[in-house]
Amino acid sequence: MTTHASYGEVHGPNVGEMSRRSFMRRMLGVGVGLLSLEFLGGTLAFLWPNLTGGLGGQIEIGTAADINSQQPAWKTGEPYIYTKARLFFVNVPAAKSLVDGSKQTVEDPGTDVSPDIEPANRSVLALYRKCPHLGCQIPQLCDKSEWFECLCHGSKYTVLGEKRDGPAPRGMDRFDVTMNGDIYTVDTSKIVTGPPIGTATFDNRGPGDMQHCVG
Ligand code: FES
Repeated sequence: MTTHASYGEVHGPNVGEMSRRSFMRRMLGVGVGLLSLEFLGGTLAFLWPNLTGGLGGQIEIGTAADINSQQPAWKTGEPYIYTKARLFFVNVPAAKSLVDGSKQTVEDPGTDVSPDIEPANRSVLALYRKCPHLGCQIPQLCDKSEWFECLCHGSKYTVLGEKRDGPAPRGMDRFDVTMNGDIYTVDTSKIVTGPPIGTATFDNRGPGDMQHCVG
């Protein structure tokens, strides 16, 4: 026989059970909390290098021979991607010859790494891959322009990190390099601010002078 609740009986969850509405409310709260945490984490990650002033300490990249064995095109000018420190390690004389078309092979660019030397005359440069516009990771050199071209908003930089186009406020930031014997060592504890807009050393081409990989 079917029984019915009598008039005046209180309906709802049993004691200790959660109503559907309060369950939904709690889940919404959890969702908002997770989103806030994600946002906070992303913001801190973005700001972290600026807050600490660096990524870490001295990083040994290797000898010229080590780098060529890792990435054979380094000796013909293709920047070496060192993923752990998010940097491009540029063989400067080889990169310049790639751009000017003389296409020389430079197995060992030498030991002229002092920050007192003009960047275009150094043996190597360590360029930070974090775009100085809004922090996107800059991809490998575009093979059409031989420039670095940021995929996010189209900022463009020469192979030495000098700004040529787009919304970035300056050239690519970099790190100082020292020699430990014949091992190139990058000081990632301090970010060296990129060159101001208008800096042009050996590559004076404008954005309209060639094809590009980005817009
Ligand atoms: S983040 Fe690179 S152009 Fe905006």
